[in-house]
Amino acid sequence: MKHIFSGKRVLLCVGGGIAAYKTAEIVRRLSACGSDVQVAMTPAAREFLTPLTLQTLSRHRVAIDMFDGADEASIGHIAIADAADVVLVAPATADLIARMAQGMANDIVTAALLVTRAPVVVAPAMNSHMLSHPATVRNLEVLAGFGHRIVASDSGELACGYDGPGRLPDPETLLAEVAAALSPSDLGGVRVLVSAGPTREPLDPVRYLTNRSSGRMGYAVAAAAWRRGAEVTLVSGPTALATPRGVTRVDVETAAQMNDALRSRTAASELVVMVAAVADYRPASTASAKIKKKAGAGLTLVLEENADILAGLAKVPGSRVLVGFAAETDDVVGHAREKLTRKGLDLIVANDVTSPGAGFETETNAAVLVDRDGNQQEIGLIAKDELADRILDRAIALRGRRPRRR
Ligand code: CTP
Repeated sequence: MKHIFSGKRVLLCVGGGIAAYKTAEIVRRLSACGSDVQVAMTPAAREFLTPLTLQTLSRHRVAIDMFDGADEASIGHIAIADAADVVLVAPATADLIARMAQGMANDIVTAALLVTRAPVVVAPAMNSHMLSHPATVRNLEVLAGFGHRIVASDSGELACGYDGPGRLPDPETLLAEVAAALSPSDLGGVRVLVSAGPTREPLDPVRYLTNRSSGRMGYAVAAAAWRRGAEVTLVSGPTALATPRGVTRVDVETAAQMNDALRSRTAASELVVMVAAVADYRPASTASAKIKKKAGAGLTLVLEENADILAGLAKVPGSRVLVGFAAETDDVVGHAREKLTRKGLDLIVANDVTSPGAGFETETNAAVLVDRDGNQQEIGLIAKDELADRILDRAIALRGRRPRRR
């Protein structure tokens, strides 16, 4: 997600709860992604964590006092609020949430929150009973009404000894929410279906045929679509990856299972991105017991063809944008154009899997995007996360020009 944070100014407002200590890691992660973090702390937050810790990690003086003339001139509440591209309030305590809901401005944090016009992400963390008290519930509804993004707290053991909701979500989750707040909502409410990973075609109970695929590219597309406001379903072959935040994941193993899972969801989808590396063939029969080695003899496998899932999805009636991938080793654009036409696609993402840094099991990829109108866009080596956004940019543009009816 580095491309989303790079060069962005994040205002981190720290409230006075025990989870304040976790903000050190949040600052570190945001800075590592290339953003410029300005921290503001309430007086109560400073009882839990010294500003020096966050100043050292953010490399900026922490805004703590509205009435300090020198500070107010450089990191005053107006300046930090105006400079922010996004604001994260973490931990948002019951007291801080109440003051925000009332529009109070009695410390530098609440004052800056009234001034800013940047998107605000609120991460409540407190005792479970404080969180479920009608006053807090109502105050959070008020903040949601302001358009703030409220991140549901985690459940578990709390510092106060309770076990229940009220934990500050992990930094990964908070960064995903901040990234979503920084992203355009140009897929707001759009139902997006993505496939990812390899399929496995069983030969016997211990062996299978598969394709090389880590699933990273498909997972990156699913994550990017969620950040942009889509309702995302990810149909995934076996991978070692965690489900991206906000995404509904359906696990499958074989190409036939992937076909069923995608077919049943395509009619309701407005954008389908088929990233999975589907096995073109499966063993004609699956042995019920392990196939034993016969010394000195070779083994011939009989394979039969799997259905072309994507070509089948193109025939599902309705209006949607259909995106395919083409992993090639030669004549990349030629093969991609042929597949686009043969499979009835709107857009194809072609890449040369033999070029260094592109293709399987890498963090990066390079691609050529070819659309149904013949437009061709070359994208050099970039992170898969960033390529995912570029693919969605193109798909959204095609959607805007009225998706083809099937
Ligand atoms: N695909 C599919 N079903 C298959 C094979 C591929 O839906 N049985 C999809 C892939 O997910 C990808 C696109 O079709 O989006 C192109 O896949 P690729 O393997 O490059 O194309 P094939 O049609 O299998 O052609 P070939 O293997 O001959 O290059």
